[in-house]
Amino acid sequence: MSQKPIASPGLRDGDKEAQTRAQDLLRAGALVGVPTETVYGLAADACNGQAVARIFEVKGRPQFNPLICHVDGLELAQQLGVFDERAMALAAKFWPGSLSIVVPKTPSCPVSDLVSAGLDTIAIRCPNSAFTRELIASMGMPLAAPSANPSGKLSPTAASAVRDAFSTDQVPLVVDMGPCKMGLESTIVYCVEGQPVTILRHGAVLAEDLEDVLGENTVHEHQPDAGDESAPCAPGMLKSHYAPESKLVLWNANQPEVQETDAVLTFAAQQVAGMERALKTLDLSPNGDMAEAAANLFSMLRQLDALQPNRIIVAPPPAHGLGVAIVDRLRRAAAPRNT
Ligand code: TXA
Ligand code: MG
Repeated sequence: MSQKPIASPGLRDGDKEAQTRAQDLLRAGALVGVPTETVYGLAADACNGQAVARIFEVKGRPQFNPLICHVDGLELAQQLGVFDERAMALAAKFWPGSLSIVVPKTPSCPVSDLVSAGLDTIAIRCPNSAFTRELIASMGMPLAAPSANPSGKLSPTAASAVRDAFSTDQVPLVVDMGPCKMGLESTIVYCVEGQPVTILRHGAVLAEDLEDVLGENTVHEHQPDAGDESAPCAPGMLKSHYAPESKLVLWNANQPEVQETDAVLTFAAQQVAGMERALKTLDLSPNGDMAEAAANLFSMLRQLDALQPNRIIVAPPPAHGLGVAIVDRLRRAAAPRNT
């Protein structure tokens, strides 16, 4: 495919074909390499949990980091997240462009819980690539897309880097719109009502650009806590990982039996002693499908947590493939919390 300027006003002849192919693949749950002005993204239909799970599988990410949701404009963005005045002002100024805004999820947000790794916030960006925006517009669906590199490798600023990094089985289509204009990932800001606007990741948009919009000394820097990612957060503090309210216990044969006040989360119909008397039992994937288990992980933990059980007892999947990330997240959630 020929190269063209990224900020071109609309699609050109021939691009329509790429758009239709990309759309068909995305609707079928496949991954597509898409251009943005920052770096190439590895896109999936954000509302399809199993497609999103494929992103983690293909990237070989050993952890479920939350992903950015790409939209074609503010209208779709507001279906996903709650924009306060500040978030509205930032979107008005920087979209389409290299700013991702983390906002609370709306109650009716259709995006899979796996996209924001169980958090009740969601990172949203409207990219400055006419192709990708029109793709999203034509689908009427947001695209979850991390940078299209295998975990631990550099972010790709050319389609060829994406093509080289993955097989066509993994990523059947990479849409080539030439080199990325910015070549640097988007800036990520946290913007939740009642809390200061906080930069989570520096990128193409600078702190002073944000303060030009929001006023001097309004933009804070995130100070990550000293390595302990399972550390508790005081109310109002930025939560970096989802953990259920209820105590989570990884099941092993030495554990006391399940009680009436416990909930059980199992995988591939594993049996846990006494589970028949549990408050409720859910199975991440009765057939032992890891992508299905990943897609269900956060929503099932939330469902069980909502019942306020004494404990959530989990029979985890084996730690291979996507199971590594699932078990990692369960271990973090089970780590002692000094609350
Ligand atoms: O420029 C970009 O941002 C590129 C292009 C493809 O859009 N995307 C990108 O995505 O860099 P990724 O997955 O490589 O980085 C996403 C970052 C992660 O560091 C993640 O922790 C953060 O966004 N993030 C996503 N959702 C979040 C949330 N709800 N709260 C806090 N951080 C979030
Ligand atoms: Mg990345």
